[in-house]
Amino acid sequence: ASKLGSRKEKTLAMIKPDATDKIGTIIQLIYDAGLTVTKAKMTALSRKEAMDFYAEHQSKSFFNNLVQFVTSGPVVAMEILGDEAVTAWRRLLGPTDSSVARNEAPDSVRANFGTDGTKNAGHGSDSLTSAARELEFFFPSTGRGPSNTAKYSDCT
Ligand code: TYD
Ligand code: MG
Repeated sequence: ASKLGSRKEKTLAMIKPDATDKIGTIIQLIYDAGLTVTKAKMTALSRKEAMDFYAEHQSKSFFNNLVQFVTSGPVVAMEILGDEAVTAWRRLLGPTDSSVARNEAPDSVRANFGTDGTKNAGHGSDSLTSAARELEFFFPSTGRGPSNTAKYSDCT
């Protein structure tokens, strides 16, 4: 049963092409942090899909490099459920730049599995609003096929 006073959130995690081979270790980290993986999908993003996913960054100098990188191989998208999941998953990821992460959060996903400010192993939604949009992007509620929605008694 869900604990009184806990704030269950859902967030979107995306393991980027440089870290999909570390998915086992990363899922273990997620569960060790008390979070649960409630959906997962390995897929490849088209250039158009990557540009849509990262639309908020379209005017940034790094946009093209970012799109190039996340389309360079498969990604793994996961819905993560748990207390303050948005913040908790971003804490596990560590700072955006993997070289900074190695100094400031040496146990983080980006410290261990990323390379630099672009090749940084993973993405995490930055708010509940972003999470809702990004979960719908990867796991559309209007999608065909199995709904891929696990039934968890703790889900609220
Ligand atoms: P951002 O949303 O600022 O970081 P985060 O992923 O931690 O929320 O940026 C999105 C992605 O864009 C980031 O994960 C890697 C890439 N990026 C660069 O390539 N260069 C940069 O200077 C920044 C800030 C981000
Ligand atoms: Mg961001």
